[in-house]
Amino acid sequence: MRLALIGFGNIATTLLTQLDAPLDAVSVLVRPDAADATRARLDGEFVKLSAERTVCTDLAGLLLTKPDLVVECAGHTAVKAFVPDLLEAGLDVILVSIGALADEALHGALTDAARDGNARLILPAGAVGGIDLLASLGAAGDLQVTYRGTKPPMAWAGTPAEETLDLEALSEPAGFFNGTARQAATDFPKNANVAATLALAGAGFEATQVELIADPQAPGNIHEYQVSSPLARYSMRIENLPSAGNAKTSVSTVYSVLREIRNRIGPVAI
Ligand SMILES: NC(=O)c1ccc[n+]([C@@H]2O[C@H](COP(=O)([O-])OP(=O)(O)OC[C@H]3O[C@@H](n4cnc5c(N)ncnc54)[C@H](O)[C@@H]3O)[C@@H](O)[C@H]2O)c1
Repeated sequence: MRLALIGFGNIATTLLTQLDAPLDAVSVLVRPDAADATRARLDGEFVKLSAERTVCTDLAGLLLTKPDLVVECAGHTAVKAFVPDLLEAGLDVILVSIGALADEALHGALTDAARDGNARLILPAGAVGGIDLLASLGAAGDLQVTYRGTKPPMAWAGTPAEETLDLEALSEPAGFFNGTARQAATDFPKNANVAATLALAGAGFEATQVELIADPQAPGNIHEYQVSSPLARYSMRIENLPSAGNAKTSVSTVYSVLREIRNRIGPVAI
């Protein structure tokens, strides 16, 4: 496989560490100021991953590496800047920054680009599970989905949670957001990808209710949700370890992307 990554932060570097099969090529699109450091890491700790390793700083450079699959793991700005053109060029893209799809215009543009390019926009389960069942039940309609996301206080640093809470002084759980998945994904772009994933798989951005909590005793990033449909009812609670490189990101997200890649190259997909 010729694999391309957009971004070279916590998810991208952990993903490369976990990939065991040698790749035909690996290319990484980063900001110009990150190019030298990225090249040094690719040619150092990741040298065995592929004989062909390329660092690019623009879309044209990435397209020249002729990837079979692109994994976006950079953020909402990068989704807007690169993903429509990649899809239109016929490249399948795994979109990790799923919260970006709360922007209806961008969601529509990506869907159209995938259709026009005969490519596929792949939305991985990310930090959450049970997306297969939720997406299946969605076909029967009349779904009710409520989600509660709980993380240690400092995972909410740099977000609007700081407007209502003194995160460092918190001694007990405190809620700071109650609203729709669209609002959650818009206001907390680095923290509410799970809300967006549940919305896209199930009842939609307006009908999916979200509660966000900072808890100093939280053992990790906790994702809980409840589903009620005419066909089935279920609830799910996942205690995820935060990533070593980014407390906002649940580490299992990386393994979900790894699963998508394995399913494309292995003889059996599950
Ligand atoms: N789907 C999910 O369940 C889920 C879970 C966790 C995180 N995420 C999302 O995945 C993304 C990556 O997470 P992470 O933990 O690796 O974050 P990170 O901050 O560690 O890494 C992101 C990297 O992308 C780079 N970047 C940002 N904009 C760029 C651009 N325009 N061009 C090139 N590089 C750019 C940054 O410099 C950084 O190095 C985030 O958007 C995050 O919200 C999704």
